Amino acid sequence: SQAASSLRAASQPSVYSDDEYADVDWDRLGFGLTPADYMYVMRCFKDENFKGGQLSRYGNIELSPSAGVLNYGQGIYEGTKANRTEDGRILLFRPEQNATRMRRGAERMCMPSPSIEQFVDAVKETVLANRRWVPPAGKGSLYVRPLLLGSGPILGLAPAPEYTFLIYASPVRNYFKEGTAPLNLYIDEEFVRASPGGAGGVKTITNYAPVLKAIARAKNRGFSDVLYLDAVNRKYLEEVSSCNIFIVKGKLISTPASNGTILGGVTRKSIIEIARDHGYQVEERAIPVDELVDADEVFCTGTAVGVAPVGSITHENRRIEFKTEGRLVSQELYSTLVGLQTGRIEDKKGWTVEV
Ligand code: COI
Repeated sequence: SQAASSLRAASQPSVYSDDEYADVDWDRLGFGLTPADYMYVMRCFKDENFKGGQLSRYGNIELSPSAGVLNYGQGIYEGTKANRTEDGRILLFRPEQNATRMRRGAERMCMPSPSIEQFVDAVKETVLANRRWVPPAGKGSLYVRPLLLGSGPILGLAPAPEYTFLIYASPVRNYFKEGTAPLNLYIDEEFVRASPGGAGGVKTITNYAPVLKAIARAKNRGFSDVLYLDAVNRKYLEEVSSCNIFIVKGKLISTPASNGTILGGVTRKSIIEIARDHGYQVEERAIPVDELVDADEVFCTGTAVGVAPVGSITHENRRIEFKTEGRLVSQELYSTLVGLQTGRIEDKKGWTVEV
């Protein structure tokens, strides 16, 4: 067989630690990498199916210099979180949504992908093996990062001959250094994130490095992150580098429609449903940047970000400010979302999966 697989993981786990918690200062968690003990690895050849996934100690992986992912960016990632309930259970949140999104992305990027069941089982196994890294209730989450990589060697521009599905995990809390304070976003006239016909709607790794420069420029100017406008008209809101965006006007909540250039976030989808349950009207539509001046509130949603209030958006040297105090719609919706994710609110939607 092609034993010389392009990726070899470290040794297999022999024992799982029974310590209740890893040695982590839970009060100091941000979004830095604190790798949990085990990662999950499963491989397959092009035109075959994934099988034989295994846990191994977290560690470096070996890749051919000519791996498709290294040369041509044939890779997709996902992000999901495991949370601990007050009574110590561990809950995943809609992992099948991540599985489905990875499958959609894999199709776009000409990659085979694990079945939904394989994906969800692998996430469960990874979380279970790393359970002592799931923070105590109220102290954060275990962020789970599935990757799908074109790991086989290829020189010409074509799909790689071999693929690796890998999951690692890290305990995290707030994504932004602002913590839970409102974000100040910047609309950069020069950069766009995605264009029609491109791959902005799937979670390919190639959507993320190109925004680093825009983020760096915004941070240098004192902003939290960048809000991108559409590539064609440079007029409609798209998303922030790492999260989706919503605007609130009275009982109407609007968010840019997923038209192929916007990442269909699991948190975005969940917040839309929660908002409708709470009696808000929610529209997915094209939102002209000019509408920002009339918005009461603006907030961002994402797995890593959660639901983050936006205090201001600066566009063409004009700073537009939004409500960040008193009873916030974003807070009302986030509180329900977190309640469901952490078992504080009974899950009648079947969104949580206990591991
Ligand atoms: C997530 O929210 O899980 C993401 O994948 C965004 C990433 C930039 C942290």
